[in-house]
Amino acid sequence: MAQVTVTDTPPEATDLAAERMAETIATGQSQGRPVHLSVAGGATPRATYERLATLVDDWQGVELWLGDERLVPPDDPESNYRLVAETLLERTGPVVHAVPTEGSAEEAASAYAREIRERVPAGPDGVPELDLAFLGLGEDGHTASLFPNAAALDVRGEVCVAVHDSPKPPPDRVSLTLDVLRAARRSVILAVGDAKASAVAGVLSGPNPGVPASLLADGPLELIIDRAAARELPVNVARAT
Ligand code: 6PG
Repeated sequence: MAQVTVTDTPPEATDLAAERMAETIATGQSQGRPVHLSVAGGATPRATYERLATLVDDWQGVELWLGDERLVPPDDPESNYRLVAETLLERTGPVVHAVPTEGSAEEAASAYAREIRERVPAGPDGVPELDLAFLGLGEDGHTASLFPNAAALDVRGEVCVAVHDSPKPPPDRVSLTLDVLRAARRSVILAVGDAKASAVAGVLSGPNPGVPASLLADGPLELIIDRAAARELPVNVARAT
């Protein structure tokens, strides 16, 4: 069952997510191996990446993968790669693997999947096993670019999937599949603000393709939310930090 951590304010939630990423990095480095994390796009994580940049001095062996990417150039304001590059690469940061967005979403998905399979060790079921999947949550319960009741949710045996009908613009994207997100050793979903309260409640109401993030809740998921995003949760579910 998902662990729910509630903070009083959004900055405390975004900082806590950064601490979880820093902990994961330190653990992998202490074991003398590369550390693979997928990172979320959107607006919320910017503060997390800015905080993470202050928490990690030694980025040796750290490889960041985009949990999803919009099919736009890497310098486009809508690019998730640009968000991560602006916040983490300005320092002598981690390796950040960009999705090749010049061609079609299908070409991008297969190229990115090849690179992930080459570099991210597979778990016992042959699925690349991330150390941590850091994810956001849409108001409709989507995560990465896995949207409610989308065909992409049913894709099995693949690492990435092309998305063309994203209800959240831009429409063309590439996303990690549910297989990969579920195979991560741990996952963190960060959501703040009143507008996410209904989606947060949906994540914890049982597996439902109409709320894609709920399909991660039976795994090693921590939901980091602020009080506003916890508004629709029963008091006993939300453990304050
Ligand atoms: C994307 C994101 C997406 C995001 C949620 C929340 O590329 O759009 O990966 O899954 O995490 O839509 O976005 P906000 O943080 O902007 O609310």
